[in-house]
Amino acid sequence: MKAVQIYLWLHIILTASVPVNTFNPFGKMFDGVKNLWQKIYNPDESCDSKWISFNETGLQVDLESKLFGQHIASRVILKAVNGFMSNDNPKKPLVLSLHGRTGTGKNFVSNLIAENIYKEGMDSSFVHVFTAELHFQHKRKFEIYKAQLQQWIKGNVTNCARSMFIFDEMDKMHPGLIDSIKPYLDYYHKLDGVSYRKAIFIFISNAEGDIITQTALDFWNEGRAREEIELKDLETLLSVSAFNNNSGLQHSRLITKHLVNFFIPFLPLEDRHVVQCVLAEMKARRLQPDQNVADQVARDLVYFPKSERVFSVRGCKTIQSKLDIYI
Ligand SMILES: *[C@@H]1O[C@H](CO)[C@@H](O)[C@H](O)[C@H]1NC(C)=O
Ligand SMILES: *[C@@H]1O[C@H](CO)[C@@H](O)[C@H](O)[C@H]1NC(C)=O
Repeated sequence: MKAVQIYLWLHIILTASVPVNTFNPFGKMFDGVKNLWQKIYNPDESCDSKWISFNETGLQVDLESKLFGQHIASRVILKAVNGFMSNDNPKKPLVLSLHGRTGTGKNFVSNLIAENIYKEGMDSSFVHVFTAELHFQHKRKFEIYKAQLQQWIKGNVTNCARSMFIFDEMDKMHPGLIDSIKPYLDYYHKLDGVSYRKAIFIFISNAEGDIITQTALDFWNEGRAREEIELKDLETLLSVSAFNNNSGLQHSRLITKHLVNFFIPFLPLEDRHVVQCVLAEMKARRLQPDQNVADQVARDLVYFPKSERVFSVRGCKTIQSKLDIYI
């Protein structure tokens, strides 16, 4: 007999044999059985290796097969996360700052990282996403937000050292807010008895999209392969621009103190990458991948600059809904 069946029988016997509205010791017993059952089949996530363990191969395969057109991000992220997770005693938390236009895969990559570290992926209670619009909307509450953010990070890292914090829409965040957590990102052994060195912080920003696009366009105009673009062509540009412009990291000591491990560029996507995105989406939906459909979806997107039409304006962002129309 299946476990579920036993469970159902127990339920029926224990509830049916006792009249309602009377003292019901079996009801209590049943609750006990039920709780035990839930604990066995759906135990609470805990901060240990059963729930948190890095799958290096998994991340590598995911990056290679699901992320398109991002040779720099793919390589740097795999190295950075792998190096960090295989070090039992890191000197500081891992801090990644992801930059690029919308639809180039920044949030997607954060999900891949979470899925290959936490068994529950983005649903893990140790993964926290903050967005400017949801959590830090009102400028006048700046001081409250600062205190709140510090408290949240501290509370959550106290709960679990291997916590992950994703800050989406950094460019919409009040400049200076992120500096309130600077001590946690620094090279401290412990602060107030808490060590933050095993935590991961990911900042996501659209702000430096133009600089990245310009570099990609320069390569394109010179007839050089996009794959020749290297991290060093962009990393300094990104950090300088993030420091000078409204990026959420403006005038941030995270930059002057070199507390961001990597500034990672996400390149604007060409039509061939959009085609790959569509084919991957079909596969994910268990449809037969159809090159013609993929070509058509890619063809119907909007590209820029106006004259050259090289890059997809919204990257791969809208292809999920577009695909519905073509199939
Ligand atoms: C952890 O962070 C969340 C926000 O993601 C917050 O609501 C919660 O209170 C924090 N937990 C602790 C113990 O501080
Ligand atoms: C940001 O700052 C850099 C360097 O200071 C500058 O060259 C660039 O034009 C700025 N970008 C934007 C979008 O304002």
